[in-house]
Amino acid sequence: MEYEVVEYNAKEHSDLVNNLPAETILKPYNIFRHFNPKGKLIVDLGCGDGSISRTAIDRGADYVLGIDSKFEMIILAGDMNEGYKGRIHYINDFVENCEGSGKFDIAIMSYLLNNAQSANQLEKQVKAAFSFLKKGGKAIVYNNNPFDTIGGDFTKYGFRKTITGTDEGSEIIYNYSPFMSKRIVNYFLKSETHEEAFRKAGFSKFRWEKLELMPDADKAFWKEYFERKELPVIGAVAEK
Ligand SMILES: C[S@@+](CC[C@H](N)C(=O)[O-])C[C@H]1O[C@@H](n2cnc3c(N)ncnc32)[C@H](O)[C@@H]1O
Repeated sequence: MEYEVVEYNAKEHSDLVNNLPAETILKPYNIFRHFNPKGKLIVDLGCGDGSISRTAIDRGADYVLGIDSKFEMIILAGDMNEGYKGRIHYINDFVENCEGSGKFDIAIMSYLLNNAQSANQLEKQVKAAFSFLKKGGKAIVYNNNPFDTIGGDFTKYGFRKTITGTDEGSEIIYNYSPFMSKRIVNYFLKSETHEEAFRKAGFSKFRWEKLELMPDADKAFWKEYFERKELPVIGAVAEK
Protein backbone atom coordinates (compact mmCIF):
# COMPACT_ATOMS: atom_id res chain seq x y z
CA MET A 1 0.00 0.00 0.00
CA GLU A 2 1.12 3.56 -0.79
CA TYR A 3 1.19 6.07 2.03
CA GLU A 4 1.42 9.85 1.70
CA VAL A 5 4.30 12.06 2.78
CA VAL A 6 3.08 15.29 4.41
CA GLU A 7 3.03 18.26 2.01
CA TYR A 8 4.05 21.05 4.35
CA ASN A 9 7.57 22.46 4.41
CA ALA A 10 9.87 20.70 6.89
CA LYS A 11 11.89 23.83 7.79
CA GLU A 12 8.77 25.94 8.37
CA HIS A 13 7.37 23.19 10.56
CA SER A 14 10.61 22.87 12.49
CA ASP A 15 10.72 26.65 13.15
CA LEU A 16 7.14 26.46 14.46
CA VAL A 17 7.80 23.44 16.69
CA ASN A 18 10.79 25.21 18.21
CA ASN A 19 9.07 28.57 18.80
CA LEU A 20 5.34 28.36 19.63
CA PRO A 21 4.61 27.83 23.38
CA ALA A 22 1.94 25.22 22.50
CA GLU A 23 4.76 23.18 20.95
CA THR A 24 7.78 24.10 23.08
CA ILE A 25 6.08 23.95 26.50
CA LEU A 26 2.56 22.45 26.46
CA LYS A 27 3.45 19.46 24.24
CA PRO A 28 6.60 18.26 26.07
CA TYR A 29 4.87 18.77 29.43
CA ASN A 30 1.94 16.57 28.36
CA ILE A 31 4.19 13.90 26.86
CA PHE A 32 6.81 13.58 29.60
CA ARG A 33 4.40 13.84 32.55
CA HIS A 34 3.37 10.24 31.75
CA PHE A 35 6.80 8.64 32.21
CA ASN A 36 10.31 9.34 33.42
CA PRO A 37 12.69 9.09 30.43
CA LYS A 38 15.75 8.44 32.64
CA GLY A 39 17.62 5.35 31.43
CA LYS A 40 14.90 4.46 28.91
CA LEU A 41 15.08 3.17 25.33
CA ILE A 42 12.63 5.25 23.32
CA VAL A 43 11.29 5.10 19.79
CA ASP A 44 9.91 8.41 18.45
CA LEU A 45 7.47 7.53 15.66
CA GLY A 46 6.82 10.43 13.27
CA CYS A 47 9.74 12.26 14.91
CA GLY A 48 9.77 15.26 12.54
CA ASP A 49 12.90 17.35 13.18
CA GLY A 50 13.63 15.30 16.32
CA SER A 51 12.68 17.93 18.91
CA ILE A 52 11.03 15.35 21.20
CA SER A 53 13.89 12.87 20.64
CA ARG A 54 16.43 15.47 21.80
CA THR A 55 14.26 16.46 24.77
CA ALA A 56 14.09 12.79 25.81
CA ILE A 57 17.90 12.56 25.80
CA ASP A 58 18.21 15.92 27.60
CA ARG A 59 15.93 14.46 30.30
CA GLY A 60 18.07 11.36 30.77
CA ALA A 61 16.93 8.77 28.19
CA ASP A 62 19.68 6.29 27.19
CA TYR A 63 18.82 6.05 23.51
CA VAL A 64 16.22 7.27 21.00
CA LEU A 65 15.38 5.90 17.57
CA GLY A 66 13.50 8.47 15.50
CA ILE A 67 11.49 7.46 12.45
CA ASP A 68 9.88 9.81 9.94
CA SER A 69 8.59 9.35 6.39
CA LYS A 70 9.58 12.84 5.19
CA PHE A 71 13.19 12.88 4.00
CA GLU A 72 13.64 16.62 4.65
CA MET A 73 12.61 16.12 8.30
CA ILE A 74 15.29 13.48 8.75
CA ILE A 75 17.89 15.80 7.17
CA LEU A 76 16.90 18.59 9.60
CA ALA A 77 17.01 16.15 12.53
CA GLY A 78 20.47 15.01 11.42
CA ASP A 79 21.67 18.63 11.20
CA MET A 80 20.60 19.13 14.83
CA ASN A 81 22.19 15.88 16.04
CA GLU A 82 25.52 17.42 17.01
CA GLY A 83 25.91 16.58 20.69
CA TYR A 84 23.51 13.60 20.41
CA LYS A 85 25.66 11.32 18.23
CA GLY A 86 25.38 7.66 19.14
CA ARG A 87 22.40 8.41 21.39
CA ILE A 88 19.86 9.28 18.69
CA HIS A 89 19.61 7.56 15.33
CA TYR A 90 17.13 8.48 12.62
CA ILE A 91 15.46 6.34 9.96
CA ASN A 92 13.56 7.67 6.94
CA ASP A 93 10.56 5.38 6.48
CA PHE A 94 6.82 5.09 6.98
CA VAL A 95 6.02 3.78 10.44
CA GLU A 96 3.63 1.30 8.82
CA ASN A 97 6.62 -0.39 7.13
CA CYS A 98 8.60 -0.79 10.35
CA GLU A 99 8.81 -3.81 12.58
CA GLY A 100 10.47 -3.37 15.96
CA SER A 101 12.58 -5.65 18.12
CA GLY A 102 10.38 -5.68 21.24
CA LYS A 103 13.16 -4.02 23.26
CA PHE A 104 11.97 -0.44 23.74
CA ASP A 105 10.48 0.94 26.95
CA ILE A 106 8.52 3.79 25.35
CA ALA A 107 7.02 4.53 21.93
CA ILE A 108 6.18 8.21 21.48
CA MET A 109 3.65 9.11 18.79
CA SER A 110 3.43 12.89 18.75
CA TYR A 111 1.04 13.98 15.99
CA LEU A 112 1.56 10.71 14.13
CA LEU A 113 -1.81 8.93 14.36
CA ASN A 114 -3.74 11.97 13.08
CA ASN A 115 -2.03 11.41 9.71
CA ALA A 116 -3.77 8.05 9.27
CA GLN A 117 -6.51 8.33 6.67
CA SER A 118 -8.37 5.12 7.56
CA ALA A 119 -8.88 2.68 10.41
CA ASN A 120 -6.70 0.24 8.52
CA GLN A 121 -3.76 2.66 8.33
CA LEU A 122 -4.20 3.62 12.00
CA GLU A 123 -4.10 -0.06 12.97
CA LYS A 124 -0.83 -0.52 11.06
CA GLN A 125 0.78 2.44 12.86
CA VAL A 126 -0.34 1.20 16.27
CA LYS A 127 0.79 -2.35 15.44
CA ALA A 128 4.24 -1.01 14.53
CA ALA A 129 4.42 0.84 17.88
CA PHE A 130 3.48 -2.40 19.65
CA SER A 131 6.26 -4.31 17.85
CA PHE A 132 8.95 -1.95 19.21
CA LEU A 133 7.86 -2.26 22.84
CA LYS A 134 8.86 -4.78 25.44
CA LYS A 135 6.20 -6.22 27.77
CA GLY A 136 5.07 -3.47 30.13
CA GLY A 137 6.33 -0.84 27.67
CA LYS A 138 4.18 2.23 27.09
CA ALA A 139 2.89 4.05 24.04
CA ILE A 140 2.57 7.79 24.65
CA VAL A 141 0.28 9.61 22.23
CA TYR A 142 -0.12 13.33 21.56
CA ASN A 143 -2.69 13.89 18.88
CA ASN A 144 -5.55 15.74 17.27
CA ASN A 145 -8.48 15.26 19.68
CA PRO A 146 -11.20 13.06 18.11
CA PHE A 147 -13.68 14.23 20.79
CA ASP A 148 -13.40 17.79 19.44
CA THR A 149 -15.98 18.19 16.69
CA ILE A 150 -15.98 21.99 16.65
CA GLY A 151 -12.43 23.26 16.08
CA GLY A 152 -11.98 27.02 16.27
CA ASP A 153 -9.79 30.06 16.21
CA PHE A 154 -6.67 29.58 18.29
CA THR A 155 -4.73 32.38 16.59
CA LYS A 156 -3.38 33.49 19.96
CA TYR A 157 -1.63 30.10 20.11
CA GLY A 158 -0.58 30.10 16.45
CA PHE A 159 -3.34 28.26 14.58
CA ARG A 160 -6.92 27.91 13.37
CA LYS A 161 -8.53 24.44 13.33
CA THR A 162 -11.28 23.51 10.86
CA ILE A 163 -13.11 20.20 11.02
CA THR A 164 -14.60 19.47 7.60
CA GLY A 165 -16.69 16.52 8.84
CA THR A 166 -16.88 13.67 11.31
CA ASP A 167 -17.04 10.80 8.84
CA GLU A 168 -14.04 8.50 9.04
CA GLY A 169 -11.23 10.09 7.05
CA SER A 170 -12.70 13.63 6.89
CA GLU A 171 -10.01 16.29 6.64
CA ILE A 172 -9.09 18.37 9.67
CA ILE A 173 -7.20 21.49 8.70
CA TYR A 174 -4.66 23.15 10.97
CA ASN A 175 -3.81 26.55 9.52
CA TYR A 176 -0.59 27.96 11.00
CA SER A 177 -0.41 30.96 8.64
CA PRO A 178 1.74 33.11 8.65
CA PHE A 179 4.22 30.69 10.27
CA MET A 180 3.60 28.00 7.64
CA SER A 181 2.73 28.60 4.00
CA LYS A 182 0.84 25.27 3.66
CA ARG A 183 -1.89 23.96 5.90
CA ILE A 184 -1.39 20.84 7.99
CA VAL A 185 -4.01 18.28 6.96
CA ASN A 186 -5.02 15.65 9.53
CA TYR A 187 -7.80 13.09 9.22
CA PHE A 188 -10.76 12.51 11.52
CA LEU A 189 -11.06 9.01 12.94
CA LYS A 190 -13.48 8.34 15.81
CA SER A 191 -12.27 7.85 19.39
CA GLU A 192 -13.63 4.27 19.23
CA THR A 193 -11.55 3.60 16.10
CA HIS A 194 -8.43 4.57 18.07
CA GLU A 195 -9.41 2.42 21.05
CA GLU A 196 -10.07 -0.54 18.76
CA ALA A 197 -6.69 -0.12 17.00
CA PHE A 198 -4.85 -0.36 20.34
CA ARG A 199 -6.93 -3.35 21.42
CA LYS A 200 -6.38 -5.17 18.12
CA ALA A 201 -2.61 -4.53 18.23
CA GLY A 202 -2.49 -6.32 21.59
CA PHE A 203 -2.15 -3.45 24.09
CA SER A 204 -3.59 -4.51 27.45
CA LYS A 205 -4.51 -0.99 28.60
CA PHE A 206 -5.51 2.22 26.88
CA ARG A 207 -6.70 5.52 28.29
CA TRP A 208 -7.28 9.00 26.92
CA GLU A 209 -5.43 11.76 28.75
CA LYS A 210 -6.79 15.31 28.60
CA LEU A 211 -4.12 17.98 28.33
CA GLU A 212 -3.10 19.59 31.60
CA LEU A 213 -1.66 23.04 32.10
CA MET A 214 1.86 23.29 33.45
CA PRO A 215 1.73 24.12 37.21
CA ASP A 216 3.91 27.21 36.70
CA ALA A 217 2.04 28.36 33.55
CA ASP A 218 0.83 31.89 32.86
CA LYS A 219 -2.87 31.05 33.41
CA ALA A 220 -4.08 34.27 31.80
CA PHE A 221 -2.20 33.45 28.58
CA TRP A 222 -3.61 29.90 28.35
CA LYS A 223 -7.19 30.79 29.45
CA GLU A 224 -8.86 30.68 26.01
CA TYR A 225 -7.09 27.45 25.07
CA PHE A 226 -8.18 25.63 28.22
CA GLU A 227 -11.72 27.00 28.57
CA ARG A 228 -13.01 24.61 25.90
CA LYS A 229 -14.80 21.43 26.94
CA GLU A 230 -12.78 19.52 24.36
CA LEU A 231 -9.35 20.93 23.58
CA PRO A 232 -7.99 20.74 20.02
CA VAL A 233 -5.35 18.23 21.08
CA ILE A 234 -5.44 15.21 23.39
CA GLY A 235 -3.03 12.65 24.81
CA ALA A 236 -3.34 8.91 25.36
CA VAL A 237 -1.33 6.26 27.17
CA ALA A 238 -1.34 2.55 26.32
CA GLU A 239 0.52 -0.35 27.91
CA LYS A 240 1.79 -3.53 26.27
C1 LIG B 1 3.21 17.45 12.94
S1 LIG B 1 4.70 16.57 12.68
C2 LIG B 1 5.19 16.19 14.36
C3 LIG B 1 6.66 15.93 14.50
C4 LIG B 1 7.10 15.58 15.92
N1 LIG B 1 6.55 14.32 16.35
C5 LIG B 1 6.73 16.66 16.88
O1 LIG B 1 5.84 16.49 17.70
O2 LIG B 1 7.35 17.73 16.81
C6 LIG B 1 4.14 14.99 12.08
C7 LIG B 1 5.30 14.17 11.53
O3 LIG B 1 4.83 12.84 11.25
C8 LIG B 1 5.44 12.41 10.06
N2 LIG B 1 4.61 11.34 9.50
C9 LIG B 1 3.34 11.43 9.05
N3 LIG B 1 2.89 10.23 8.66
C10 LIG B 1 3.91 9.35 8.89
C11 LIG B 1 4.06 7.95 8.70
N4 LIG B 1 3.05 7.24 8.22
N5 LIG B 1 5.23 7.37 9.03
C12 LIG B 1 6.24 8.13 9.53
N6 LIG B 1 6.17 9.46 9.73
C13 LIG B 1 5.00 10.05 9.43
C14 LIG B 1 5.51 13.65 9.20
O4 LIG B 1 6.48 13.54 8.18
C15 LIG B 1 5.84 14.72 10.22
O5 LIG B 1 7.23 14.91 10.34
